[in-house]
Amino acid sequence: MAFTFIFCFIPPFLFIFLFHSLLLHFFKPNRPKLPLPPGTMGWPYIGETFHLYSQNPNVFFASKQKRYGSIFKTHILGCPCVMISSPDAAKFVLVTKSHLFKPTFPASKERMLGKQAIFFNQGPYHAKLRKLVLRAFMPDSIKNIVPNIESIAKHSLHSLQGRLITTFQEMKTYTFNVALLSIFGKDDQVLYREDLKRCYYILEKGYNSMPINLPGTLFNKSMKARKEIAQILAKIISTRRQTKQVDCNDLLGSFMSDKEGLTDEQIADNVISVIFAARDTTASVLTWIIKYLGENPSVLQAVTEEQEAIMRGKEEQELSWEDTKKMPLTSRVIQETLRVASILSFTFREAVEDVEYEGYLIPKGWKVLPLFRNIHHSPEIFPDPQKFDPSRFEVNFGSGSKLAV
Ligand code: HEM
Repeated sequence: MAFTFIFCFIPPFLFIFLFHSLLLHFFKPNRPKLPLPPGTMGWPYIGETFHLYSQNPNVFFASKQKRYGSIFKTHILGCPCVMISSPDAAKFVLVTKSHLFKPTFPASKERMLGKQAIFFNQGPYHAKLRKLVLRAFMPDSIKNIVPNIESIAKHSLHSLQGRLITTFQEMKTYTFNVALLSIFGKDDQVLYREDLKRCYYILEKGYNSMPINLPGTLFNKSMKARKEIAQILAKIISTRRQTKQVDCNDLLGSFMSDKEGLTDEQIADNVISVIFAARDTTASVLTWIIKYLGENPSVLQAVTEEQEAIMRGKEEQELSWEDTKKMPLTSRVIQETLRVASILSFTFREAVEDVEYEGYLIPKGWKVLPLFRNIHHSPEIFPDPQKFDPSRFEVNFGSGSKLAV
């Protein structure tokens, strides 16, 4: 009986199934195929790389944006790319749909900073690192070190007196010292500061070198320096563990106190990466602030008055966390400098699958570059974008006629 059932009914079902599959194969439902964003891809393989390098990259990006709008395609450095230059598109790629776009860096950079660093990861491990880094830079963690940061600044200024200096170099020394303070707190760093500084300087020299790991090359020296930094960190971690000193207020403490636990290697990769992320960026912004204040004497005068008023109004001579909240003009100068100087012109991501954005296809595997500088210099968002004007960051309450100071 069962045999008869199988014999009679299965073949018609099989036939219908196969027929349906064949129909689907030859007559696919007419789904609209999304177009690629506008733009040109240049020559085969080379793309538009020479075009990009034959001029200021910012001019390349700006002229493309003018021609094609805020989303366009191109081909540079061997990769097909989609460039985006609107705040909404940047939010889509970096925040709301960040899981569809993975960070991509050359393998040599990953080896140098460390594969397990926050920059090169996604998902729960990235979220965990982000939480640990943020915890160490929250007001509760940094308010106690404000006087120490001030003291580093005073010491730096004192050491400059009577010397002809390269501002950026001096700012790098200053930000390195502040980075060590925020990572290791007030004590640990003193012991190892010079060794860490020596190794980090070797590491950074080779960061943009050819990734050839042979004795004597800059890359090789950097990799050795990196190893030495990891050894110094392992010593600091071991001392902290022995003395049961787990202080979440500094970054190392935050990494060490994580319940799920980070390995020493993960901690080393992330400490090196945070120094890397924090140091040159901050030093560069400080250098631009000095330049803009020098070029705008009235703003310099107003900032000086704001700072002097804070010191006049208090008994003790040390700067406190509360004081930093009484600097609206100084804060606006920082914001406007970040906008005009736009020290990081763009970043890279890679689409992990085909993605639709505003009716366009971003194909899987293509690089996606949010162009921060184009957004910061857009006349629709910031009228007269080249002008250094801190007042554009004044908070406007209500009708628009009354400005908060
Ligand atoms: C004013 C100076 C700075 C600028 C302009 C800046 C800019 C940026 C930008 C644009 C990114 C995103 C990169 C990307 O996702 O592709 C980033 C990421 C990051 N920055 Fe900064 N940064 C500055 C200072 C600092 C400082 C002082 C720290 C110290 C904690 C820091 C730590 C980080 C970290 C850990 C990330 C990775 C975040 C993540 O992957 O979730 N940055 N920074």
